[in-house]
Amino acid sequence: MSIINPKILMENIKSYISQHKDRFINELIELLKIPSISADSAYSQDVLNTADVIKDSLIKAGCDKVEICETPGYPIIYGEKLINPELPTVLVYGHYDVQPADPIELWTSPPFEPIIKTTETHPDGAIFARGACDDKGQMYMHVKALEYMTVNGNLPCNVKFMIEGEEEIGSSSLAWYVKRNQEKLSNDVILISDTGMISNSQPSITTGLRGLSYVEVEVTGPNRDLHSGLYGGAVANPINILSKMIASLQDENNHITIPGFYDNVEELSLEERAEMAKAPFSLDAYKNALDIDDVHGEKGYTTNERNSIRPTLDVNGIWGGYTGEGAKTVIASKAYAKISMRLVPNQKSENITELFTKHFESIAPKSVKVKVTPHHGGEGYVTPIDNIGYKAANKAYTETFGIPAIPQRSGGSIPIVALFEKELKSKTILMGFGLDSDAIHSPNEHFGIFNYLKGIETIPLFYKYFTEMFK
Ligand code: BES
Ligand code: MN
Ligand code: MN
Repeated sequence: MSIINPKILMENIKSYISQHKDRFINELIELLKIPSISADSAYSQDVLNTADVIKDSLIKAGCDKVEICETPGYPIIYGEKLINPELPTVLVYGHYDVQPADPIELWTSPPFEPIIKTTETHPDGAIFARGACDDKGQMYMHVKALEYMTVNGNLPCNVKFMIEGEEEIGSSSLAWYVKRNQEKLSNDVILISDTGMISNSQPSITTGLRGLSYVEVEVTGPNRDLHSGLYGGAVANPINILSKMIASLQDENNHITIPGFYDNVEELSLEERAEMAKAPFSLDAYKNALDIDDVHGEKGYTTNERNSIRPTLDVNGIWGGYTGEGAKTVIASKAYAKISMRLVPNQKSENITELFTKHFESIAPKSVKVKVTPHHGGEGYVTPIDNIGYKAANKAYTETFGIPAIPQRSGGSIPIVALFEKELKSKTILMGFGLDSDAIHSPNEHFGIFNYLKGIETIPLFYKYFTEMFK
């Protein structure tokens, strides 16, 4: 590596960024204009077009080989720059697909017409668009960091990129691809920016992701919709029954009632919980940001514990009966709900889905029939903080933010990370630069310009420190 002194290296990165920042922002804006919504087949051509744009960007950033790898679903872009087999290899993962934009009427500007606005947490401006933070903006930081390192001739190690287009719908094609390409994807550390950090003045490194078990339930009562006067009171109303069944899944302490649900849950020691509680957090600011008078959750745990180290059960959608204008007097034949359970280390997604199914069937009264259909799921993940990947990341953050990062377990899920460990035998470092207030998956998603540029600045330092520590 041509620049050894970290201070000089950082100055060099900073000046490259300030010279090119308008172009960096414009390139991201172009990428965000393409509605690469993987969940909606109406956008399939846009998803495919996005893959082409990423491919071109990796070639321009200096990859020696870039290919669009076909899969049973959307393609995966693989890129590499291998400079020396003696040096370590960093595998960068990200996703180019985005969540659907609806409810579209709640966006203050169109989701695929990116625009820069300032917010309370982003006084320097943030790019508003679907996918700005999750994950196009964060993924693209890595492309620009690579550009910096190749242009300046200071890429310290080998790098591989693997960018997928189905993360938001469960990564099944990526799982298929990883299992078939272990050799090609061999690496010494996996680097992902698809999570968040505490705030722009307090960096954190995500050290845990929750697993996921996701099911859809269908409750059937009578064989047709009925007049609610003629039949009401005499036959089971599937919506009433479904509501009761769902309500019974949590007790008065908001503890989940499914037998066996907590059997394998990893309990943290009091020391570990005390360590977690040191992270800066204001309950008032949290409530204010969400316009709620009180929080809600499992008794005996703090808000930060509830949304990271504890498993949950939530209804994501519920429907049935008449929801149109006016009042129709009807007892519907069917009611439905989509239910997700966030899981913590040692809980197995398949096992939880099975426990849920058994329990849900067992609590259904004879007056209805119940069908449970599993959707995608995945296991949680914990990054140990004593490995060189974590240490290198922390050193990089310490340089660019001026203070060390805090390890923090997140409530979100990236199920493919557990599979990476199983198939590729390597640890993942989650260098996320988003903020909770960036509204990922919500209307008005955005990504701070500060965060975008800080990411580009921090990533090359990770490469440097990881390579040094690897020896
Ligand atoms: N990037 C998110 C996950 C995330 C965000 C983790 C913030 C931690 C902090 C990812 O794109 C996502 O949305 N994952 C889904 C799961 C997936 C199987 C649909 C999730 O967590 O709901
Ligand atoms: Mn994501
Ligand atoms: Mn997402």
